[in-house]
Amino acid sequence: MKPSFAIIGCGKVGRALAQQLPEAGYRPMGFSSRRITSARAAAEIAGALDRCFEKTWEAAKDADIVFITTPDDAIKESCRIIVENNGFKKKSVVFHCSGALASTELALVKSGNAKSGIMTGVQIGSMHPLQSFAVQKSGNPFDNIMMAVEGDPAAVETAREIVTDLGAQPFTISTDGKMLYHAAAVVASNYLVTLMDLAIKLMAASGVSETEAFKILNPLVKGTLANIESTGIPDALTGPIARGDVEIVTKHVQALQCLSGDMAKYYSLSGIETIKIARAKGSLSEDAAKQLMRIFNVH
Ligand SMILES: NC(=O)c1ccc[n+]([C@@H]2O[C@H](COP(=O)([O-])OP(=O)(O)OC[C@H]3O[C@@H](n4cnc5c(N)ncnc54)[C@H](OP(=O)(O)O)[C@@H]3O)[C@@H](O)[C@H]2O)c1
Repeated sequence: MKPSFAIIGCGKVGRALAQQLPEAGYRPMGFSSRRITSARAAAEIAGALDRCFEKTWEAAKDADIVFITTPDDAIKESCRIIVENNGFKKKSVVFHCSGALASTELALVKSGNAKSGIMTGVQIGSMHPLQSFAVQKSGNPFDNIMMAVEGDPAAVETAREIVTDLGAQPFTISTDGKMLYHAAAVVASNYLVTLMDLAIKLMAASGVSETEAFKILNPLVKGTLANIESTGIPDALTGPIARGDVEIVTKHVQALQCLSGDMAKYYSLSGIETIKIARAKGSLSEDAAKQLMRIFNVH
């Protein structure tokens, strides 16, 4: 029999868990949120309307696994309130789902118990779905996504099992590395949006309409991603820097300097990193790399 679970904070991620955990055999035990209507909605999704509670500690107290899926800045405080009301069951496992915060955000679970003299053996961990839950979709939102887990060894083991049961793929990261892991996700996802915005603006400056620009660039971006997938970095790098075409790069920078804003600066900063990749690929001579560095460093 799968363990029972409680959800504290019934928003996008809380509701997704409320939907999928019972599908995977986990037993819904308690739902609580800032507003009772949110808790009721999650309990209903889980098919357990009678397990909806006003008080967070009442929702948590009988659950084997407790997910605190409040916004990040409310996790510690929510945890504190449950601890103070002795709301965590003996040997339960407490998770939050934040990407940036580590399991240590839940450390009160341990110090609080020690303070009151009650050692409950509660384990703490974090379980971060590397996915955006902005829109509620039909089907399993965890299907095939990656989920980072870290925390106490027993919590990590439990998390890996839950993630697999949800249909996602677990990977374990270090507690100390959590912030850099999250920064990596921001670079890969959010900064890709920024990068596309810059490319679209450059296309527009060249005379292509902004509405057409994405359509034109999209196959190129998808092709590059496919190349990275098949050949990896540095081999997937092509273009003037990889070829050491100093003349073209000089003309790019000159053209970008004629535009308003920081386009030339952005191009140059990215170019400096790209030189390193081209050198690793072996397609850029040391001499051409030095010339390119001089072009980029003056902007
Ligand atoms: N959304 C994503 O794409 C995503 C992806 C990965 C990880 N995460 C992480 O998942 C966690 C939840 O994010 P989310 O997007 O689901 O947030 P959300 O949609 O804003 O939901 C948070 C829920 O917590 C409730 N809440 C707020 N303060 C509370 C408190 N003090 N006590 C109890 N409940 C409280 C909210 O209030 P009401 O009761 O008023 O509704 C809301 O329902 C966060 O740690 C976030 O970093 C989110």
